[in-house]
Amino acid sequence: MAERIYNFSAGPAVLPVEVLQEARENLLSLGTSGIGIMEHSHRGKAYMAVHEEAEALCRELAGIPGDYHVLFLQGGASLQFSMVPMNLLGAGSTADYLVTGAWSQKAVAEACKCGNVHIACTSEDRNFCCIPKECKFSERPAYVHFTSNNTIFGTEFAAEPEIPRGVPLVCDASSDIFSRPIPVAKYGLIYAGAQKNLGPSGVTLVVIRKDLVERGPKELGIMLQYRTYAEDHSLYNTPPTFGIYIMGLVFKWIKKQGGLPAIERVNREKAGKLYRHLDSSRLFRATADRDSRSLMNVTFVTGDAALDEKFVAMAKKAGLDGLKGHRSVGGMRASLYNAFPSAGVDALIGVMREFEAQHR
Ligand SMILES: Cc1ncc(COP(=O)(O)O)c(C=O)c1O
Repeated sequence: MAERIYNFSAGPAVLPVEVLQEARENLLSLGTSGIGIMEHSHRGKAYMAVHEEAEALCRELAGIPGDYHVLFLQGGASLQFSMVPMNLLGAGSTADYLVTGAWSQKAVAEACKCGNVHIACTSEDRNFCCIPKECKFSERPAYVHFTSNNTIFGTEFAAEPEIPRGVPLVCDASSDIFSRPIPVAKYGLIYAGAQKNLGPSGVTLVVIRKDLVERGPKELGIMLQYRTYAEDHSLYNTPPTFGIYIMGLVFKWIKKQGGLPAIERVNREKAGKLYRHLDSSRLFRATADRDSRSLMNVTFVTGDAALDEKFVAMAKKAGLDGLKGHRSVGGMRASLYNAFPSAGVDALIGVMREFEAQHR
């Protein structure tokens, strides 16, 4: 097999090697069943054990209270941009959105199709290089939506935004879920596509407070109601069984690392050393404001697009892949999700030093 290289991709992204090795074993036969994980019936005992273990580990790691459902859906985070307002934004009511990047903008566009949207804050005037300090909320929002980590712009909320009491807080946590402990009780709904910190693409995790499930109109298409997934344990139809299986393995791996507090410590160390290098570099600089920097996606530039391109090419040659930044920011983006090894950050800093020496 070819040697694995350092994969800085923003998603789908690197998974823990131990997870991939265990999955490889179970592709042909799940345990001693003689049937591969992807070939088991979703109604059978063997798969049910996988499904239940994934949910139990999810609850244990994040300390999810009993009055929340843990749901496994398909359609990615993008379907949640639609499902959230379809279920929670009644006609005539208003939802408040914190607009901190392209993904929040897409969420707003979908919500506008269902009801009124109030923009509580935006950092668009600064090309989303910061998390706004202040929000202005509407009178009685149906919910407040924010994107905890802005994958494209390399910014992240340091903590949950302060919102009016009693209003459900909804979060797109696609690119920083399980990167640190989550005070779940502060939220009404958390959603995340799995393909960055939790597993492969094709499965979306939704954690929703039970009373909110009942807000969804029953006239909605059956697969568009949270109720359908909640009532049938995410087994109304065939769920993304393989994705849920891998998610369960990732949860097991996180638990073995010491849980979310330990994962956060490592994430802080990894991102910390890269930001320290950027702050001391005479060639490279981070694009996000210091107090808004993401631990998951570190975005940086030289200030010269041609030089950026040269650096990305040099890094690729050295076995560091996926560093090209999103076109709306340019430059470089190093995605340092949970499974990304610390040695990969050292390797990146090494190549940056070499490049700096060549371009004094
Ligand atoms: C923060 C955020 N939200 C939403 C999405 C869209 O996710 P999906 O492709 O699962 O619909 C992404 C994808 O990168 C993302 O980073």
